[in-house]
Amino acid sequence: MNTSHIRDQFPALKTKVYGKPLVYLDNGATAQKPIKVLDVLTEMNRSLNGNVHRAVHYLSIQSTERYHRARESIRNFINASSENEIVFTAGTTGSLNLLAYSFGQTYIKPGDRVVITETEHHSNIVPWQMMCKRTGALLEVWEVDESGALDPKKLEKIFDSSGPVPKLLSLPHISNVLGLINPLEEIITIAHYYGVPVAVDGAQGIVHKKVDVQALDVDFYAFSGHKLYGPTGTGVLYGKEKFLEEMVPWQGGGDMIESVSLKKGTTYAQLPLKFEAGTANYIGVAGLGAAVEFMQELNTEALEAYEAEITKKALQELSTIEGCIVYGQPGTYYGQNYEKTPLFSMAIDGAHPSDIAQLLDRMGIAVRSGMLCAEPLLERYGQTALLRASFALYNTVEELEFFMEALKKALCMLR
Ligand SMILES: Cc1ncc(COP(=O)(O)O)c(C=O)c1O
Repeated sequence: MNTSHIRDQFPALKTKVYGKPLVYLDNGATAQKPIKVLDVLTEMNRSLNGNVHRAVHYLSIQSTERYHRARESIRNFINASSENEIVFTAGTTGSLNLLAYSFGQTYIKPGDRVVITETEHHSNIVPWQMMCKRTGALLEVWEVDESGALDPKKLEKIFDSSGPVPKLLSLPHISNVLGLINPLEEIITIAHYYGVPVAVDGAQGIVHKKVDVQALDVDFYAFSGHKLYGPTGTGVLYGKEKFLEEMVPWQGGGDMIESVSLKKGTTYAQLPLKFEAGTANYIGVAGLGAAVEFMQELNTEALEAYEAEITKKALQELSTIEGCIVYGQPGTYYGQNYEKTPLFSMAIDGAHPSDIAQLLDRMGIAVRSGMLCAEPLLERYGQTALLRASFALYNTVEELEFFMEALKKALCMLR
């Protein structure tokens, strides 16, 4: 990994904060964007802005072509079998709301069950709660143990309990609190054995792991562009074609129709447009295509090795801080190896996360503090707020060392 070459491609990293060099460690919330992405956004806004799928003029043709090219890049990136399986959304939240609505309207009836885990981001809880309210279904929770690992026996117990098997299991690839990579292959195999389709919240997963939706045999996979070095307001719902074909659309409007008649009603467009009502965020999508191409140019093995090095060093250093608990420790749980990505959510005795975060900010370091949009998991751990430092491919070992020094300084001031 040539981090200095990579850093050169991210102009935002040159920002000064209170006159100090920015150390950006809030990548779990959103990542900075490379020049390749920024250039596409600028070029399209400046000189190629025409609405997609609508006109025969040059600008519209150009932006339509780029929109299609981005879909193909993303299909290739996650190895979906068809572009019909790539639906553009506004982000992971948009993807999961689409899924909960359309899957719910199509397949769920009163009394049916849907399963999520205790480790979810609110985006993979609330849409399912809303769907259950609408349809009369029940939301069941696959609880985690103290380590944050998922016991497959507990899942089988939910599947085996009286009544019909659940209609869907939805879980995160990587929790935004724990940073642990869930053993998706094993979980999907168990779920499919029981005939339960699986949806994965890949907001954090797609950033750190190579995702091959066909090899995983996952039924749905949702992610955001802005965490993957792409533009905000972009996202993807991957879905197996057999489901997407059957599912009813969730929003109506232009572009998602085949024909509209006031007398005969409406017929819908073919996939994937059936799920893309209204003017698409085509400029953002072109930027997302560029972000994915940027990722594909990287050496994935070197990147994973580099992240593993940062993770190991950070865990070692954090373990030397008295009274510091880091949630989500890598290890073997229930016979499965749980690797950790460089995302560290911690509680430190005698210092409130937001006080620490504010002091770090004054030293130029951006970290996250609070509930991390995962209130149930924090409640599970008896916490009301955590401090989270999350690293991206452009963060350096020197930045980690600087963060550790600054953290110790902040703790000296606070306790
Ligand atoms: C695990 C997880 N799921 C879902 C989301 C929601 O993503 P977005 O706000 O981009 O829709 C996030 C964002 O932090 C996340 O970390």
